[in-house]
Order: sequence, then C-alpha cells, then structure tokens
Amino acid sequence: MKINKKVEEILNKQVNAEFWSAYLYLSMSAWCESQGLKGSANWMRVQFHEETSHALKIQDYVLSRSGEIKLQPINAVETSWNNLLHLFEETYKHECVVTEMINKCYEVALSEKDYATAIMLQWFIDEQTEEESNALEIIDHLKLLGDKGAGIYHLDRSLEKRKFTDETAE
Ligand code: FEO
Repeated sequence: MKINKKVEEILNKQVNAEFWSAYLYLSMSAWCESQGLKGSANWMRVQFHEETSHALKIQDYVLSRSGEIKLQPINAVETSWNNLLHLFEETYKHECVVTEMINKCYEVALSEKDYATAIMLQWFIDEQTEEESNALEIIDHLKLLGDKGAGIYHLDRSLEKRKFTDETAE
C-alpha cells in the first residue's frame, strides 16, 4: 500500500532533520579539530556518518513504500562552542529535539493507522535513547574533570577509538 500523504510529509521533514544533524556534527568535528581535540573530532565525525545513515534509512523506506522524497535546504548550524563541555551539552540538547521529532513521526503514523511506518520508527526510538545516554555519559565525565588538564587529554584520546558501523544495515 502506497504511503499515506501525512506520513510521507513528516518523514520528508525527518530526512531533512537527520541531514541537519549530520551537518551539525560535521561542524562540531571541524571545531574540535581546530582545538586540537582529535578524539572528539573523530567522535563527531562518526556521529556525522550515523546521522547520514539515519537520513538514508528513512529516505529508502519512503521510496520503498512508493512515496516521494523532496530534499529541502538544510538549516544553518553553529560553528563554535565555548569548550568541550558546552559542545556535548549542545549535543545532548540537539538529540532531545530529534527525539521529540521522532516521537511526532510515530504519533502521526499511529493516528494514520500506518503500522508499518510505526514499526520502522521503533528502531529510531531505541536509537534516540542510546544517543541521549551516550552524550550524557560524556557530559558526566567532563563535569568530573572540570573541562581542563590531563583528564581532558585522556578523555579525548578515548573518544578516538569510536568507529562507524552502519547499524541501519542490521
Ligand atoms: Fe539521528 Fe542523532 O538522531
């Protein structure tokens, strides 16, 4: 059955939001690089790839339901932050906004009785819980460390280990 128009519309918005997220994390990665925070730059670069994969997962889903994708301009993003703690606090806030958007998509899918879309979105609901908790964990570390000194260096080094694996492919 061809995708419902209201569902198609909100999923198009979500594709845009996921690319907007990717763009934000790419900007954050560039800022980290400019601050000599190579591990954090890597973490943000992986996040950029994850967000791109999220956009593509939704786009491919809409197309698989014979829907249309009309890519829209991507909103501007911040380009600098006060410090690493500020950066991860903004990451957390951003993920909370995305969680609200995903929840809205889910509500529209249910109200339109589009259960296939609701099932597809469950993956994103789980993902958002994980994304929020990843950012919070780093914020907790940074608060303990006080955002300076050797502790920051070691935290930054630990973020260098993160690697991108396309979880949407599972
Ligand atoms: Fe795709 Fe971080 O939300």
